[in-house]
Amino acid sequence: MNKAKVLKEIIEQRRSIFPKDYSDTEISQEILDEILHSATLAPNHKRTKPWRFKTFRGEEKAKLALEMQSIYKSTQPETLFLEKKYNDIGFKINKADTVVSIVVNFSGMVPKWEEIAAVSMAVQNMYLTCTANNIGCYWSSPKIVDHLKESLPIEENQKCLGFLYIGNMY
Ligand SMILES: Cc1cc2nc3c(=O)[nH]c(=O)nc-3n(C[C@H](O)[C@H](O)[C@H](O)COP(=O)(O)O)c2cc1C
Repeated sequence: MNKAKVLKEIIEQRRSIFPKDYSDTEISQEILDEILHSATLAPNHKRTKPWRFKTFRGEEKAKLALEMQSIYKSTQPETLFLEKKYNDIGFKINKADTVVSIVVNFSGMVPKWEEIAAVSMAVQNMYLTCTANNIGCYWSSPKIVDHLKESLPIEENQKCLGFLYIGNMY
């Protein structure tokens, strides 16, 4: 198959796959590195490399799930608190093999939208690399990530844009 055909197929096949559809099998470190490396090849104005990705697996991922649940509980008015939503936050993070936090770093050298655009292109590269490796992923952008502290320290000139959930498909 020629390159254009392979690329077209990968772009067409790419889908958001949600944690409920991930299997329990582990993704190898080699493939995970490949996914993250592909992100860093995205175009970025003035070479600001505005993406800051942190990978959560194992114990760190479990802690992230607990912090996200606790943030949900403390930011939600009691009358609007839903036990199902609370459990779902934990379920999704625990079900994923890997969670990658998506943070944009604003360098001040280019407009903010350009940095967000570059990060989005980096995430698309990860989506496509996942697709090519038969791995499921999806970008989740819950507002409560703004409150993360322990798991993800965010600097003044940065913003968390959500998580990329990654997991093997059945
Ligand atoms: C910036 C961005 C944020 C997203 N945030 C969420 C989200 O919070 N929850 C969700 O279910 N899907 C989220 N998605 C995934 C979209 O819902 C998904 O891409 C859309 O349903 C189209 O499906 P596809 O990716 O399979 O084409 C997000 C996608 C993008 C690009």
